[in-house]
Amino acid sequence: MDTLLKRTHYCGELRSSDIGKRVTVDGWVSKTRSLGAGLIFSDIRDRSGIVQVVFGDGTPAETVAKAASLRSEYSVGVTGTVRERESKNDKLPTGDIEIVAEELSLYSESDTPPIYIRDDDNVSGELRLKYRYLDLRKPMMQNMLAVRSKLYHVVRNFFYENGFIEVETPVLAKPTPEGARDYLVPSRVNPGKFYALPQSPQQFKQLLMIAGTDRYFQIAKCYRDEDLRADRQPEFTQIDLEMSYVDQDDILAVQEAFLKRLFKEMRGIDIQTPLRRLSWDEAMNTYGSDKPDLRFGFELHDLAPLVKDCSFPVFRDALEKGGKVMGIDIKGYSDKFSRKDVDKLTDSVKVFGAKGLVWIRVEEDGIRSSVSKFFSEDELRAIAGEFGAEKNDLILIVASEKKETVWSSLGFLRRDIAGKLGLLDPNRFELLWVVDFPMFEWSDEEGRFMAMHHPFTSPKKEHIHYLDTDELDKVYADAYDIVINGYEAGGGSIRIHDSALQKKIFEVLRLSEDDIRNRFGFFIDAFKYGAPPHGGLAYGLDRLCMLMLGTDDIRQVIAFPKNQNAQCVMSDAPTTVQKKDLDLLSIAVKEAE
Ligand code: AMO
Repeated sequence: MDTLLKRTHYCGELRSSDIGKRVTVDGWVSKTRSLGAGLIFSDIRDRSGIVQVVFGDGTPAETVAKAASLRSEYSVGVTGTVRERESKNDKLPTGDIEIVAEELSLYSESDTPPIYIRDDDNVSGELRLKYRYLDLRKPMMQNMLAVRSKLYHVVRNFFYENGFIEVETPVLAKPTPEGARDYLVPSRVNPGKFYALPQSPQQFKQLLMIAGTDRYFQIAKCYRDEDLRADRQPEFTQIDLEMSYVDQDDILAVQEAFLKRLFKEMRGIDIQTPLRRLSWDEAMNTYGSDKPDLRFGFELHDLAPLVKDCSFPVFRDALEKGGKVMGIDIKGYSDKFSRKDVDKLTDSVKVFGAKGLVWIRVEEDGIRSSVSKFFSEDELRAIAGEFGAEKNDLILIVASEKKETVWSSLGFLRRDIAGKLGLLDPNRFELLWVVDFPMFEWSDEEGRFMAMHHPFTSPKKEHIHYLDTDELDKVYADAYDIVINGYEAGGGSIRIHDSALQKKIFEVLRLSEDDIRNRFGFFIDAFKYGAPPHGGLAYGLDRLCMLMLGTDDIRQVIAFPKNQNAQCVMSDAPTTVQKKDLDLLSIAVKEAE
């Protein structure tokens, strides 16, 4: 192997101010082209960027000869002198200069890479994941890793300075009572028994409060066997924290100080605090979502008062059955949506259970609607008036006996349409707290109420009496989410610290005595020994990182992510294992059907 040329500079940091310096860079050949007559240009890349190297113009002949063998992704070191470039490249930060090579070391050759290693070749795809070590060679991806690393740093500094103690909690843990599906790990020494990977360190951090840690934080790996989406991975990272002797305002105040610091240090942005707070009810009724994106308007309006006596049976029916009729006004963009586009929007809300989408267009010469058969022009004008609609507005209305259908359809349309209209500026940040979540939500699948956040969340004091009635939908919780640009960036709650109340909640969730004992007897026991009032929150670190980098694909901010089927296509995990290994674990695998 050629001798190691010890680096003096990273490729991407060389500038005009370095002209005349003798420098050494180490990296990969990004591209190379021979102009003949002993003149070769190579771009050398490292994690910081790319610099142009010239072999010729004073380079020893044997070095030029060696350079002729260079191909993409060869690993090399180059020593030479920085000079001003004749034809400058203003697209490259190093575009004003080049290195005239004197020495070249060839550390190792490379096969032709199966993916392009260029920042502008960034389509997501399995090949990028399969050759992730090449994908990560892109300066953009190395920058991502550096930004993520800085994020850890800011987090640790802030919480350490504010008296939080970093504690690691186990990864081999006990199956979780509620929530997503667990990843299970068989125990060899306890045949037939399983650990679960933690969905979050929730119970451990509460036990740390009972233990007296008072302020805890951890950058914690969490594991959830759930369907993947653009902002969800089966293993992801939380900034997890918990505090004792605090109420919701205390917790939110610490988080606002943290978020202020985070945005300042990561993006140089001053966010204004205190942040806006919306109750869950307000968020749903105004934005159709518990994670509203406030970068644009298109707010929901309740049309019930205007249409309750109308002759359109769909609206009347929905209201008579206790549902809702609501709409949004796409202000000033009606001409951007053809009839076909509106048909597509109609199809897109069917997955939420909406049976249709009513439209009203305010036009130069009058008002048009998909339901003009059922409404007089005056009635349509009254609806348009509710939105303060003007020329070129497109009003979209959903009716359903299920309010969730109306909310989720319009909530989806708001953001989908804003995306189509290019209104989602990744450099603008709108943060808010959504507070006062319902304590329970009905699960059709389970045929019972489930905890909306988790079963350790404290119901609001003034709603506790509903726990003994069948009006569980009237119980709200001291739970809160931090929402940034339409993402749930974090969530938490004040916890129950009274064992009788905790028991009551388990009963309401229809967990049997046996269930309670087997699944978290240890947890309930701990509350018999003087539990302090406490609460906390966890941020999705990956999601914060996505927001900092302006991407909407979580895989872009994780070094080695899983694909849509929860597989690592690079290492081919998960895999089958040998029978002898299964035997050791007392496990037999059923033949796949
Ligand atoms: P929660 O389940 O809301 O709360 O999770 C907290 C935050 O973690 C992020 N998150 C995810 N990120 C990527 N992929 C996933 N699959 C994923 N699931 C969740 C979100 C979310 O807001 N123990 C409680 C917190 C508490 O009460 O203190 C908890 O885990 O950004």
